Amino acid sequence: MKKAKLIVNKNYTIGTAEKGIFSAFVEHMGRCVYGGIYEPSHKTADENGFRNDVIDAVSEMGVDKIRYPGGNFVSGYDWEDGIGRKQDRKPSLNLAWFQTEPNEVGVDEFMAFSEKTGCPPVMAVNLGVGSPMSAAHLVEYCNLDTPTKYAMLRKKNGREKPYGIRYWCLGNEMDGSWQIGSKSAEEYGDAARETAKLMKWVDRNILVTLCGSSGSEMPSYPEWDRIVLERAYEQVDFISLHKYYGYPELDKTRRADFLASYVDFDKFISVTEATVNYVKCKTRSKKDVYLSVDEWNVWHKGETPIETSMWGVDVPREENSYNMLDAAVFSTLIGTLVNHANSVKIACLAQLVNVLAPIVTEKDGRLLKQSIFYPFKIASEKLAGTVYNTVSETGEFDSVYGKAREVFFAAVSNGKRLTVLAVNLADEDVALTVETERFNGCTIKEITEIYASDPLCCNTFESPEAIKPVTKNPPAGEIQLKPYSVNFIDYETK
Ligand code: AHR
Repeated sequence: MKKAKLIVNKNYTIGTAEKGIFSAFVEHMGRCVYGGIYEPSHKTADENGFRNDVIDAVSEMGVDKIRYPGGNFVSGYDWEDGIGRKQDRKPSLNLAWFQTEPNEVGVDEFMAFSEKTGCPPVMAVNLGVGSPMSAAHLVEYCNLDTPTKYAMLRKKNGREKPYGIRYWCLGNEMDGSWQIGSKSAEEYGDAARETAKLMKWVDRNILVTLCGSSGSEMPSYPEWDRIVLERAYEQVDFISLHKYYGYPELDKTRRADFLASYVDFDKFISVTEATVNYVKCKTRSKKDVYLSVDEWNVWHKGETPIETSMWGVDVPREENSYNMLDAAVFSTLIGTLVNHANSVKIACLAQLVNVLAPIVTEKDGRLLKQSIFYPFKIASEKLAGTVYNTVSETGEFDSVYGKAREVFFAAVSNGKRLTVLAVNLADEDVALTVETERFNGCTIKEITEIYASDPLCCNTFESPEAIKPVTKNPPAGEIQLKPYSVNFIDYETK
């Protein structure tokens, strides 16, 4: 049997994984909002039209913050179309996803959802065709208690107390040709700086995220990041990274390449860390800019073509089914975020409901938790805290991204419990030995395993629990990691 060995030493830490790493994303796209979180005719709908079964699942997942309302959608969105009396609001075109936007859910409705789930928003402003002043007006509408136009408008619309939204995004994927109002790095860097300046003049407590490259595959990467940072470093608090992984060239025979996605993700994050440090030094700045990986996931592109459902409201877009292999890759991505906890302070799983989602809903019907629901939920519960360097011996395999380790590790302690995430990417069992050093008492307690004998099996409405976590007592000796399994190994520490 294959063997692996892991050493975790209490003295060798990376940083602190904050809860913000376990955030998610809701966009006006496909059936994420309409027919997802919002379905007034559903039997579980609350007084605002939000599905309580979805709200319960979001709470169970342990989502920290929710980025909203896009994504590509935000670059064509006028937030003023979505406020005021619902009967006075007019539908508009959602040009990002070729849908009709009924404007039934706008900022006030989303904030009701946010307050009910307990997940504060990361609110994105339109820097595609939107103006710096419109972004500043949105901050005034949401956060001020002044006797001025937009703050008064919020009160008139029924919300007396300011929402106090702290986290904001300066647009979305502005380097992408697919983006409404895409820009050159120079144009965007200047627009973002001026917008951030106005937004912070309105509310000095807010924190803003600059758009980095929308993926490491972009020809403009990583120059884009350097240029936009050089133009806006002093005004921003985070730079964003977006990354989705699937089979390269959609070729499902390239399993090894897909399994090695985390190698590329790790490199992408490291290069952005280096770029931030370079600009900090070049601009002689005293402040830090952190990373917000505000879109990441496994994405098998093209599963739901747009052409057959142009201009619908709750029409499907990019609804992926996630199997056990996807859950394993997903877990290595979440572990990679944790292993960069010194720089990554926010990360948003894209998305939350129906679109590339852990949670799937039926119209007027049931809710399904996909395979990726569980690693997110357990990671959110167990992987926030002090992150340790992991030193390991495991097999390796070749991939398009270079050599990858067969067993992926992350190790995090909350002071009382040390959790080791071990993802077996091999097609066979691996016997794992863990050495914990300098913990002054460290006893293995239990193992939570996510595994399916068929790596291609998915949860379905007919078989909703084909993949779910199982908690097991620890073995006396080596820990058996099943093929493509995700394991959270808990130790009690002193
Ligand atoms: O999450 C789906 C889309 O992917 C987002 O709208 C966009 O930002 C990214 O390209």
